[in-house]
Amino acid sequence: MDKQSVIHNFETHVSAGKAAFFKSYGMDFVMGKREGAWIHDMDGDKRLFNCHSNGGVFNLGHHNPEIVNTLRSALDDLDIGNHHFMSQERTALARQITDGMPGDLNVCIFSVGGGEAVDLALKLALGHTGRSKIVSASGGFHGHTGLALTVGDAQYRDPFGVPNPNMSQIPFNDATALANALDADVAAVILETVPSTLGMVMPEPGYLQEVRALCDKHGALLIMDEVQSGLGRTGKLWAFEHAEIIPDMVITGKGLSGGIYPIAATVIRDPLDKIFKQDPFIHISTYGGAELGCRVARKVLDISSDPKFLNRVEAAGLRVREGLDKLMQKYPKFLTGIRQSGLMIGLELRDEYGGPALTKAAYDQDLLMIYANNDTSISQFLPPLIISDDEIDWVLDRLNRALNAARKIRTALIARQKSSGLLKKFSGNG
Ligand SMILES: Cc1ncc(COP(=O)(O)O)c(C=O)c1O
Repeated sequence: MDKQSVIHNFETHVSAGKAAFFKSYGMDFVMGKREGAWIHDMDGDKRLFNCHSNGGVFNLGHHNPEIVNTLRSALDDLDIGNHHFMSQERTALARQITDGMPGDLNVCIFSVGGGEAVDLALKLALGHTGRSKIVSASGGFHGHTGLALTVGDAQYRDPFGVPNPNMSQIPFNDATALANALDADVAAVILETVPSTLGMVMPEPGYLQEVRALCDKHGALLIMDEVQSGLGRTGKLWAFEHAEIIPDMVITGKGLSGGIYPIAATVIRDPLDKIFKQDPFIHISTYGGAELGCRVARKVLDISSDPKFLNRVEAAGLRVREGLDKLMQKYPKFLTGIRQSGLMIGLELRDEYGGPALTKAAYDQDLLMIYANNDTSISQFLPPLIISDDEIDWVLDRLNRALNAARKIRTALIARQKSSGLLKKFSGNG
């Protein structure tokens, strides 16, 4: 199929809304070849350096040869397995994940994607505590599936008329607000360690420890969503390690798949296993923890938990920061601040038009950068963790040009917004 036919058929059979959106921004990119940090247009005449990594899915780059070879050889002897039986592959992966977790976070329940893993965590929290309420952060994002949808932003729920009884939201980094929201009927508090869709808001020093203490005081479980922040993104395997807390449950997904075979997991503390001990078949996910995916995830963990790899993420983060500081001096009115932990980075821009303007300007400079959907004044900056020093320098040079151009695009967007009301969202997540 030629490119125009793909676009036409995409519009008719997949998403007319997305096709119209991309047309309005002059972005007719259809994904073709992908490799390392690069994704190519199917016609081969444009390529983009991926500075979004799909929220951490492509931490190890696209089509990472080690991951691809792992899947290839796994196909010689495995399929998805059978969720009824005991499994060598699920056991080995669960062992590897829990060995890297503190305390008695010893049990893994596998899912296909992050939303499903969050749903399971919330369901379990309600069942285990016998309580009925969940508290989450305003502007946080945990997926678009059942219960995950109910603890996220209303904008993704209200158009579908999905109710969210018993769910309440508090501002991230506000321990007083959390203290006021907690009572004897709160089953759990769920937080992204670094809320990404809210714009890479870094937890203030001491905040997560306070959250842990408040949950303990009120008997609520603490669920940390590490779908984006985990697997080395912040320079530690899990971002909650920076705060030295032990959550009751941890969610991982996205990058665990290497972008090659979908898999996600909810890691729970031993005592939370009670319901599953009573009825081990009470929760089923046919493809959750597919054995092929387990092999892939083990390879991802081998690579991502290596101290040398994590040190490199830290060093790459410092090099990026040096360049960003210079850009901040050059464009003080447009690039107004930087949020950063390792290679989990948010660029604070002038206003809510800044993110969309930079996304477009970056695209024109061959960079894929996506603004935070729940705070469009922040541009997410999540290069693959395997980025080399030369690539960092190249990206910073292109970002310099993009920031320069984004200022004009912002002015045009404001004019367009006034005439047509057009400032649509780029993505529904990360
Ligand atoms: C922090 C966080 N949690 C959960 C999810 C949901 O994951 P999935 O899209 O795999 O269902 C996402 C997706 O972007 C996410 O960013």
